[in-house]
Amino acid sequence: MTTAAKTLSFNPENLDRCVSILREGGLVAVPTETVYGLAGNSLCESAVRKIFNVKGRPLIDPLISHFSDAPKAFEHTCANASAQKLAAAFWPGPLTMVLPKQSSIPDLVTAGLSSAAIRVPAHPVLRQLLEQIDFPLAAPSANPFGYVSPTRAEHIIPTLGRKIDAILDGGPCQHGIESTIVDLRDEEKIRILRPGPVSLDKLSEVLGTTVSSPSNIPATDDAAQTAPGMLSKHYSPKAHIEIQPHGYLHIADRRTNPNNRTATILNSKPDAVDANETDIFWLSEDADIDTIARNFFHLIQICDRQGYDHLIIEAAPNTGIGIAINDRLQRAAAR
Ligand code: TXA
Ligand code: MG
Repeated sequence: MTTAAKTLSFNPENLDRCVSILREGGLVAVPTETVYGLAGNSLCESAVRKIFNVKGRPLIDPLISHFSDAPKAFEHTCANASAQKLAAAFWPGPLTMVLPKQSSIPDLVTAGLSSAAIRVPAHPVLRQLLEQIDFPLAAPSANPFGYVSPTRAEHIIPTLGRKIDAILDGGPCQHGIESTIVDLRDEEKIRILRPGPVSLDKLSEVLGTTVSSPSNIPATDDAAQTAPGMLSKHYSPKAHIEIQPHGYLHIADRRTNPNNRTATILNSKPDAVDANETDIFWLSEDADIDTIARNFFHLIQICDRQGYDHLIIEAAPNTGIGIAINDRLQRAAAR
């Protein structure tokens, strides 16, 4: 594709256009409540292959399939009682389940694994789109492999805009952090593979059992066999990232290093900030954790485009979605 993809606002005509593109095996960047996804027909191998090519993603890293409802998702997988409980509690929503797959999902989607990752998203625009098609949508985050995930349509234009057929604009994503992934293949050993908006405590409460945390899964490339996407280095901007513990409020002194543009990103607005200070940013006014999550990838991308070489980022408090933010922060900082 040589011309830039059109960003389409949400209306019936544009929805029809996206449906046609997807039916013909094309790719559309779609809004979800977590991050934007790069969507293609999950059951069409040529569309799935395009997704891997466009992202520059290795074929060993499987994709999530998105469905309009739980019964459809469970047609393509072997759901157990725990999966049914989680679907009732959290779908539509930011939870991805890993279950044994049926042969209807191509091996290309699951990177040859015997399991499939499935999700019923909550974003109203994507839900309308899914209701108009009779196939699931394979959709990884709509960023080049290893880069920061997009949480607004405008993030996709400079990175994948020339390689895809359309971008469906559904506004800024509500959560701003990718879905929680839970491995349900063995009901005796249910574990989180990737922390996200649905916390471990909420999962454990609904299941009435203890779910294992992802800290048991080493964040190394060796973990690729069990959690293929959990590479130690991921979500990385061009700028180098330095993490400071939560509560650290020092403002970087860029004057001491004029050749290295440094930005400081805080959780909340500092009490006193000099009107001339241009290199300090905050993720929320008042440390609201959901706002911090929503702005996290967005602000990193803004700083990257503004040409900062170095980002000093304050970690989030390590509770709830803060655990997922800190997971992404550590991977973004890995070299
Ligand atoms: O919120 C989200 O989950 C977003 C939106 C677009 O739905 N999608 C997303 O996809 O984050 P992606 O491809 O960027 O991350 C999916 C993760 C990868 O780490 C992949 O390795 C893992 O899910 N995954 C997919 N299938 C799997 C499977 N069968 N077993 C274990 N991990 C799997
Ligand atoms: Mg991703």
